[in-house]
Amino acid sequence: MCGIVGYVGKKQATPILIDALKRLEYRGYDSAGVAVLTDKGVEVYKTEGRISELEAQLPDINGLCGIGHTRWATQGAPTTINAHPHVSGNISVVHNGIIENYNELHKFLNNEGYEFVSETDTEVLAHLTNMYYKGNLVSAVIQGLKKVKGTYAAAFLCGDSKQVVAARKESPLIAGIGNGENFIASDVTALLKYTRDIVYMHDYEIVSLAGGQIQLYDFWGNPAKTHIDSIDWNIEAAEKSGYPHFMLKEINEQVTSVHDIMMGRVSKLNGDVALDEIKLSMEEIQNLERIVIVACGTSYNAGLIGKCLFEGLAGIHTDVEVSSEFRYSNHVLGDSTLVVAISQSGETADTLAAIREAKNYGCRAIAITNVVGATLAREAENIFYTRAGPEIGVAATKTFTSQLVALYLLAIYFARIRKRMDMDRSKRLLASLTQLPGMIQQILNSKDLIKKQAVRFSNAKDYFFLGRSLNYPVALEGALKLKEISYIHAEGYAAGELKHGPLAIISKDTPVVAIATRSPTYDKMLNNIREVKARGAQVLAIADLNDAEIDKNADAVIRIPVTDELLNPVLSSVVVQLLAYYSAYALGCPIDKPRNLAKSVTVE
Ligand code: F6R
Repeated sequence: MCGIVGYVGKKQATPILIDALKRLEYRGYDSAGVAVLTDKGVEVYKTEGRISELEAQLPDINGLCGIGHTRWATQGAPTTINAHPHVSGNISVVHNGIIENYNELHKFLNNEGYEFVSETDTEVLAHLTNMYYKGNLVSAVIQGLKKVKGTYAAAFLCGDSKQVVAARKESPLIAGIGNGENFIASDVTALLKYTRDIVYMHDYEIVSLAGGQIQLYDFWGNPAKTHIDSIDWNIEAAEKSGYPHFMLKEINEQVTSVHDIMMGRVSKLNGDVALDEIKLSMEEIQNLERIVIVACGTSYNAGLIGKCLFEGLAGIHTDVEVSSEFRYSNHVLGDSTLVVAISQSGETADTLAAIREAKNYGCRAIAITNVVGATLAREAENIFYTRAGPEIGVAATKTFTSQLVALYLLAIYFARIRKRMDMDRSKRLLASLTQLPGMIQQILNSKDLIKKQAVRFSNAKDYFFLGRSLNYPVALEGALKLKEISYIHAEGYAAGELKHGPLAIISKDTPVVAIATRSPTYDKMLNNIREVKARGAQVLAIADLNDAEIDKNADAVIRIPVTDELLNPVLSSVVVQLLAYYSAYALGCPIDKPRNLAKSVTVE
């Protein structure tokens, strides 16, 4: 996730900008840059790689006003030319967000004579502001942003005056008030060393820092009231935005990440999914005979849900293979097979080897990953970015639900092209997808109930997670999350398999989480619940909000909002993530860095 900072004051701007950027490093980035106003005009320095590399190439810069950026690439590779700030004439800009009508604006600005040097969407902001600049930076910024569709936290610097102007829509931005000096930043972490007086900016607000003053404006250029909050966080807490662990922060961020992955890709109006990143022709999609999904761990669990979707919605036979097995097995693959590699990091050695192996057989390939410029993205001809922002906790949470949404969108896209889904059904499904963020928020609001159950069972030695059909991969994911961070032994099982062995170890000491949302197998699931209860197990059910039946069967129930049955895994996953988190919390485990595990498994 990009980080932006800005400074106007009496001190040298560059060391402050660099220091503030370093405090945003935890957000993840792949390039960095600064623009500082000096006697010679605006000087811009940027580089791909780390802030320390940028620092190493900075000359002595004498300037009291500037902007800085760490870039987490979304549009355009992580290169120096794509790094921010971007410049047009006298204007420099740094930006966090996505300009959705980039193509349209690019054409418009080209016709106006502006030449683009980078592949980024941000560059349109520099040209637009330059085009409208007639001596008043605030007014030029507002006129430019009025043409923009999408999200932004953006900061602008002009060579004419010691002033930084910044604006926000749906991307985080704050201003900091110091003594004769003022700041802007993506979050408070960057500024805590300098000030604790913070203005949390609202959407469509513009802030101007100049002459020791800070002034807010509305989107029409009228002065707006400034609300100053005083912060009492320490630096470490601030990086986690006040959450005790990154994992909990990332679980909460799913409200945003599930929304962000759909931006610009979903048209609820005509029931279409627009996936410009998929270069397969309509004919190739119509002729697909088989999909093979390769992935590891949590990404593999997402793949199992993908199988249900590709088969159920698009009618394409799908196999899901653990990457480390796939790379050493015998294959029956050909050019009508599509390989879908899922990896949040894009660096998992086994998944990289698997996709290379599949390509040797002439298969077409799609990569679903969260990291722009990752090796996997370079291996696949089609890259579906999940845009979840950096995930720092070792346990995958928000990247998992984003992978699920990517798979829903892909399956609907294929189903429409293969004429397996009519417009009414796709409209309804897409409308339900766009309601998920609000529903995730409702689940997060009931976290205390989930915490209570987690604490209650935290001394268990063995846990079982049961599900059927789409809920079966969620059961696997729940067990994986729990064992990974709390070290409690847990198994995920297809509920119908119980009788074939595992029932032997079910007793009053094995809590069972039953994922029992409404589906054609709901009644069978109730039978499985009765089976384990008859052996003395305590059953915690995850069920629909309006399900009265479940109370008669389970010992405790966590309820999730009612959505399209296909989409339940997104919601029940949030519950199992919170259950794992609070179990580990109760046991005092090092949640963000569980023993023996790494975030990115780059070795075989
Ligand atoms: C579990 C977890 C791992 C990863 C696995 C694959 O919480 O994070 O199981 O899912 O190591 O990683 P990626 O998705 O980066 O290929």
